[in-house]
Amino acid sequence: MSAGSARVARDPVHHPLFARCYARISVTAETRTGMAEVRRRLLGGLSGRVIEVGAGNGLNFAHYPGTVSEVVAIEPERSLRKLAVEAALRAQVPVDVAPGAAEALPVKSEAFDAAVVSLVLCSVRDVPRALAELRRVLRPGGELRFFEHGRGGGRVMTFTQRALDRTVWPPLAGGCHLSRDPVGALREAGFELGPYRRTLMPESGPRLPSSYCVTGVAWRPPADAADAGR
Ligand SMILES: C[S@@+](CC[C@H](N)C(=O)[O-])C[C@H]1O[C@@H](n2cnc3c(N)ncnc32)[C@H](O)[C@@H]1O
Repeated sequence: MSAGSARVARDPVHHPLFARCYARISVTAETRTGMAEVRRRLLGGLSGRVIEVGAGNGLNFAHYPGTVSEVVAIEPERSLRKLAVEAALRAQVPVDVAPGAAEALPVKSEAFDAAVVSLVLCSVRDVPRALAELRRVLRPGGELRFFEHGRGGGRVMTFTQRALDRTVWPPLAGGCHLSRDPVGALREAGFELGPYRRTLMPESGPRLPSSYCVTGVAWRPPADAADAGR
């Protein structure tokens, strides 16, 4: 094969158009829809080594408290990862941004005190595998903080969410799905669920298929066997 025809390895997640849009919309949403406050509350009280999966353009980084010793931020999308690297330079805690996918985290088992996912479980290809990986990399008793959107509303809304998931939404929105059940998926993956709160995003105004959010904490069981989730 000549050098000119050599194939360039494709990223596990490749949504350049979505990435460009998300980089803009997400920054506006920080103030307009109160996302900055959601992020601050999501990350408050964390400490030790943290892994953030699907870090996007790094908007969580500014909200990690000083008790966090290090954040390893995994982001598979090239252009979002570049923005995350820039955000990491501005963060008050050390943040190391790395490529990788939730379904095969490029880190050792039981290496983290806490893990964070925000608006990511809607987009991963394989939710059970991603959650098994999160469980693997957390130490037993380690916590997972989550902020996700999913199934919600009445019958008409859930019908609409499912219809959009089968048609235009995932290709338009970077692989995102509207009708997933993050809390149910966490339970099925063997996490112990702590308190969680269902909210609307945005809090006021029209309810969109992506408005039904849940924020909370779940734990890898303290007595979890070393090889759990594999
Ligand atoms: C809606 S954005 C959220 C970004 C960021 N977590 C935030 O709170 O703003 C979804 C993110 O999930 C990432 N993602 C999609 N599939 C993924 C996968 N399989 N593993 C890890 N991240 C993934 C996308 O690249 C994107 O950064």
